Amino acid sequence: MAAPRQTVFRPLDPAFLEDPYPIYARLREQHPVAWGATQAVGYAGFWFISRYADVAAGLKDNRFGREIAKVMSPDSFPPIPEAHKPLYAMLSDWMLFKDPPEHARLRRIAAPVFSLRAVLGMRPRIDALIDAALARIPERGTYDIVSDFSSPLSIDIVADLMGVPEKDHPLVRGWVREITLSLDLVRTPERIAAGSRRASELIAYFERLVAAHRKVPQDNLLSLLISAHDGGTFLNEHELLASCVLFLFAGHEASSLLIGNGLRALASHPEQWRRLCAGEASAKSAVSELLRYDSPQQIAFRHALEDVTFQGAAIRKGQTVGFGLGSANRDPSVFPDADVLDLQRQENRHLAFGAGMHTCAGSSLANLEAELVFTALAKRFPELRVESHQRQESILVRGLTQLTLRCDR
Ligand code: HEM
Repeated sequence: MAAPRQTVFRPLDPAFLEDPYPIYARLREQHPVAWGATQAVGYAGFWFISRYADVAAGLKDNRFGREIAKVMSPDSFPPIPEAHKPLYAMLSDWMLFKDPPEHARLRRIAAPVFSLRAVLGMRPRIDALIDAALARIPERGTYDIVSDFSSPLSIDIVADLMGVPEKDHPLVRGWVREITLSLDLVRTPERIAAGSRRASELIAYFERLVAAHRKVPQDNLLSLLISAHDGGTFLNEHELLASCVLFLFAGHEASSLLIGNGLRALASHPEQWRRLCAGEASAKSAVSELLRYDSPQQIAFRHALEDVTFQGAAIRKGQTVGFGLGSANRDPSVFPDADVLDLQRQENRHLAFGAGMHTCAGSSLANLEAELVFTALAKRFPELRVESHQRQESILVRGLTQLTLRCDR
């Protein structure tokens, strides 16, 4: 018989936000499918899946999906306020929120744009943006490496590759941040309304940019995207514009959080930082381990599209299920000494980019960007000294809003 629902953890508790890993360990051992209660807007709570094998299997199981509106009656949802509608209209065109067969149609656009070959071709631009960001780090004193380096840099890189001219980078950064805030579980109605305004502005912005690129194609990802779109007829114009915003949104936050989380982890493991600086650990294996050790996206959310019994738990149609990527990545049945940071770890099959059909479409770009950034920072900071940090309030992603480093060499 399926086990009854019982609240086992509270993912918005400050102790959980600061360090969820001991709680994940308890859940993996005692409650591999646990009910977590939240006060978040629109979520009474969710089922949390903590073991690696279950997370990997669940994300490939089509009984869990995104398009809950297809299986529930319309009166199960509160009406959407007028001011929130532009945001939801845009999200409904994102592959991230689609199930088969629509998902595959929308995702086709990503393949040529984010192929390793295309991304490697963009490397000189990425190098130039990283160099410009490094040049802004002062020689002495303290510096907030998250607000002043990783956050603007990660938006600038993806914005640049998406054809946004440099003069507009600060503007686009602000819009993207507001959309990000409107989508997190700790959002408020005001944040959703602000995100909605920005969604309309970004769509209009890309409409102009796409028109300009159609007239004069450039050597960037936006032109690749447009030619993939115009060469086939699988996306309509709205979907093309919404995909541009998705790439900006999906491409910046996790990349930025990885830099902050990684630097903080390395500052408390100086022998590992020394190995990276000395070239004993390659940037590639270091980035995989940092992604595993403190994953930027902790949870991949889905809904049960039918009643499902999963590892003994009765999950009802419509309920939210959180697949714990961060917990899976610390599962000792897959990773020996899972709580140890080891930049030279072998066979690192982490799930930081998710699993199944929604596996990160930009992982080649994310890996390359992080490898270049950590290599550059290892040269700039022979020693890593953290003065203070501030954590972002979120359960979907995990990261810092501030990480102040001492800059003196
Ligand atoms: C360290 C950096 C990154 C991490 C950790 C990361 C992680 C993820 C994860 C976990 C998912 C799956 C979400 C789910 O299943 O619910 C995802 C999806 C996605 N990511 Fe990334 N991502 C990163 C960077 C990027 C970049 C640089 C881009 C592109 C510019 C990108 C584009 C996407 C897209 C388009 C999707 C949706 C794929 C789909 O629904 O089929 N990501 N990412």
